Amino acid sequence: MQIEQAVARHYAHGALEEAIMNALAAAGKDVNHLVPKDLAPVDEFHVGGRPATTAFAQQLGLRPGMRLLDIGCGLGGASRYFASEHGCEVRGIDLSAEYVGVANALAARVGLAGRVTCEQGSALALPFAPGSFDGAYMLHVGMNIEDKARLFAEVRRVLKPSGLFGIYDVMRLADGDLSYPVPWASGPESSFVADAASYRHLLEAAGFEVLKQRDRRDFALEVFAQMRAKGAAAGPAPLGLHIVMGADAGRKVKNMTGDISAGLIAPTEMICRAPA
Ligand SMILES: C[S@@+](CC[C@H](N)C(=O)[O-])C[C@H]1O[C@@H](n2cnc3c(N)ncnc32)[C@H](O)[C@@H]1O
Repeated sequence: MQIEQAVARHYAHGALEEAIMNALAAAGKDVNHLVPKDLAPVDEFHVGGRPATTAFAQQLGLRPGMRLLDIGCGLGGASRYFASEHGCEVRGIDLSAEYVGVANALAARVGLAGRVTCEQGSALALPFAPGSFDGAYMLHVGMNIEDKARLFAEVRRVLKPSGLFGIYDVMRLADGDLSYPVPWASGPESSFVADAASYRHLLEAAGFEVLKQRDRRDFALEVFAQMRAKGAAAGPAPLGLHIVMGADAGRKVKNMTGDISAGLIAPTEMICRAPA
C-alpha cells in the first residue's frame, strides 16, 4: 500500500487534461475534432511511444472484438490504439485516479468511449472475474511493482485459457545504481526494475509459458538519437511527454537514457501464454 501511494504521488499532476488540451491547441490541432493519433505524442508513456506499441501489438495475435486488459493503462494511449486500429474492446486499470479520468475523457473526445473504459485500481487486486479477458498487456508498469509474483498470478486469473499476456518493461541488464528521478519513479522506494530471468522465473511459476523475449535497447538508442536530432533542428515540440512528466522531465529522461546507454537497463518485450 505504501508503495502504491508513493507511485500514485510520483505520477500526480493536478491539471493534466487542461495541460494536454492547451498543448494540442498550441501544436495546431483542432481540439474539437481529434483522432487517436493526434494524441500519440503525449499519451504513450513508454520508450518509443506509438512505434513501440505498434511493433509490440503485432505479436499479440489480435482479432477484432477481442477483450483486452491494459494493466497500468496510464492515459490510455495504447488502449485507444488497440481499439481504433485492431477493433478490440479494452478495459484499462491504473493506480492514478487522475490518469484514468483523463484516459476516459480522451476516449470520449475521439469517439471511443464505448470501446475503451479505464478505472482506478491496483494490478495486484484486479477487480475482474476469472477468465474475463482474451488477452492482457502492460507497457512500462512492472518497474513500479515489487510483488511481481502476485501481479502475474492476478493476470493469469483474469485471462482465459491460452490467452496471451504481453509485457514491455524496462528490465535490468547489469548491476549498478540507477540515477533518479526516472520517468517511472522519483527515487528507489518506488522503483523495482528486475532482470529478464526474474520475470521468466516468476511468469513460469504463475503458469505462463514465455513464448518470446526481445531486447529493445538498440531501438531505444535509435529513438533517443532521433529525439536529440529533432530537438536540435526544431527546438522543443509543444506536444510531448514533458507535459505529463512535469518540471523535471528533462532530468528524468536524461537519467533513464544515460542508464540505458551505459547498459544497466533496457526496454524489453516478453510474450507469454496462459495455460490451456
Ligand atoms: C510509465 S506509466 C505507463 C502508462 C501506460 N502503460 C503507457 O505506456 O502509456 C506507468 C503506469 O503504471 C501505473 N501503475 C504502477 N503501478 C501500478 C499498480 N500496482 N497497479 C495499477 N497501475 C499501476 C502508474 O500509475 C502509471 O500510470
